[in-house]
Amino acid sequence: MSDQNTPPYGKGDTSYIAAGSEEGVRQLAKDFYQAMQTLQQAQKVLEMHPEDLELSAEKLALFLCAYLGGPKLYEERWGNLPLPISHKHLAIGPSERDAWMDCMRAAVEKQDWETSFKDYFLAQIYKPARILRNRDT
Ligand code: HEM
Repeated sequence: MSDQNTPPYGKGDTSYIAAGSEEGVRQLAKDFYQAMQTLQQAQKVLEMHPEDLELSAEKLALFLCAYLGGPKLYEERWGNLPLPISHKHLAIGPSERDAWMDCMRAAVEKQDWETSFKDYFLAQIYKPARILRNRDT
């Protein structure tokens, strides 16, 4: 049932606020890379990353702040880098895309978010994940 009090995610910074602002998004990114280190199906994607995942988590967190309608923290620090360009050197097939999504799903499950926002977020984040696939197998 739709709830009148549920904010229309995606409008302004409603998604950013629903995610717990910068602190909440940072926690998500931390849990995402934690999941990548533990999920068996994500080992290939983990190997694409540098050994120290701290900067990767920082970049993902700051990028997601703007993606969710919050401040453009990634751009302020590293400039505007379109995702397809920052991923074009990586071999991303359906299984890498799905493993990345599995890590994101595991991370989202750990957050203290509204269920409606969890569902919304996972549906939204699948869009760039789908676009970043750059090979068929
Ligand atoms: C589809 C599967 C994906 C794979 C396999 C993947 C993999 C990677 C890898 C290996 C890096 C390099 C990390 C580093 O050098 O520190 C990276 C960077 C990054 N990824 Fe992804 N990624 C995927 C999807 C996404 C999605 C959907 C988003 C955001 C919505 C995203 C956002 C980023 C950002 C912001 C960076 C940092 C770019 C930079 O500053 O160099 N990625 N990704």
